[in-house]
Amino acid sequence: MSDTVLVTGGFGLVGSQTVRRLAAQGRRVVIADLETPANVKASATLPRGAEVRWTDLTDAEQVQRLVSDTAPSAIIHLAAIIAPAIYRIPKVARRVNVDATATLVRIAEAQPNPPRFVHASSNAVFGPRNPHRTPDPLTADDPMRPVDIYSGTKVEAEEIVQSSNLEWVVLRFGGVLTNDLSALPLSTDAMVFQSALPSDNRVQSVDVRDVAWACAAATTADVVHEILLIAGDESHRHTYGSLSAGLVAALGMPGAFPPGRPGDPESDDAWFVTDWMDTTRAQEALQFQHYSWSDMMAELTETFGWKRHPARLLVPVVRAVMKRRGAYWKAPGVYADPWGAIRANLGDPAWVRPTESA
Ligand SMILES: NC(=O)c1ccc[n+]([C@@H]2O[C@H](COP(=O)([O-])OP(=O)(O)OC[C@H]3O[C@@H](n4cnc5c(N)ncnc54)[C@H](O)[C@@H]3O)[C@@H](O)[C@H]2O)c1
Repeated sequence: MSDTVLVTGGFGLVGSQTVRRLAAQGRRVVIADLETPANVKASATLPRGAEVRWTDLTDAEQVQRLVSDTAPSAIIHLAAIIAPAIYRIPKVARRVNVDATATLVRIAEAQPNPPRFVHASSNAVFGPRNPHRTPDPLTADDPMRPVDIYSGTKVEAEEIVQSSNLEWVVLRFGGVLTNDLSALPLSTDAMVFQSALPSDNRVQSVDVRDVAWACAAATTADVVHEILLIAGDESHRHTYGSLSAGLVAALGMPGAFPPGRPGDPESDDAWFVTDWMDTTRAQEALQFQHYSWSDMMAELTETFGWKRHPARLLVPVVRAVMKRRGAYWKAPGVYADPWGAIRANLGDPAWVRPTESA
């Protein structure tokens, strides 16, 4: 059997590091991604052993050719539309996150040597998490409770993968972070989205290099038919308030983020779809955790370098602008209303499971 690994979404945040990791292991890697100007530019500097097949995964004929021609021993399926972009394009998101996953799985199942299928999912599948009511970290056995288009389409995709006859592995990622400053989400949508999240909502971050390590390891480790929670070690357990404060402090701009609104302790739903995660089994099986939170912040500080000093002078201006552009500027109430804020600023986040007849 070939040792080709097919990585869908191979130019994305997780994909580009996963390709690097696989190439460093000496494996042949085929990237399947859209032929966008940014991806074409990135394709000029691929690591040795990696090649590109421009593919729109929503086109079944292209996917058939891709899989037949490359005959991979494993597929790492990362391509997806993620939050917050997803709230503006829910129909495209359904085609990519759900329908394209179904197509890829069906074609993989029909291969003479069906590949192992490593599927990227998210802690979002567990739904909104009120830390006052669910104090324990998530485990893979907790029930799924999708509410928005992102968590809903990720659940639907998992169901397709788990009901296939492939050797599947589901990896549910926490909040993936990178030290690559050029990859920081600085769009207006990303900032409004960030400001909408409850400041005391829990999130467990993870360095993208560790996620890449987990993805590569899952193609060969003894983890078939397992669901594994992929997040950093316990130093990565934050609230959104502490996470954003830590990030701007590492860039020499402490206090640049205005404090957000806390979540409503009495609500089960007005919370975002992230939480702390029990990574014990995933770490035991994949040995992927290499970068602590303080490692990441020290690297970020070093990368930003001397720019920290002039940046500090900008703190009052940045703070004032972020406050006015924030999701709750002049809004009544004291608690965060993440779904209402997303609806008002980005698009209707609702997820409706399609009926059998639809
Ligand atoms: N980033 C996170 O914090 C996070 C957290 C949990 C789970 N995840 C999951 O991890 C996976 C990777 O996320 P990411 O952060 O790298 O996302 P990303 O947006 O950086 O990358 C997604 C990639 O998919 C590609 N893609 C989109 N539509 C496509 C299509 N029709 N055909 C081919 N390629 C297409 C994009 O061009 C992009 O390169 C996703 O499945 C996501 O749901 C990410």
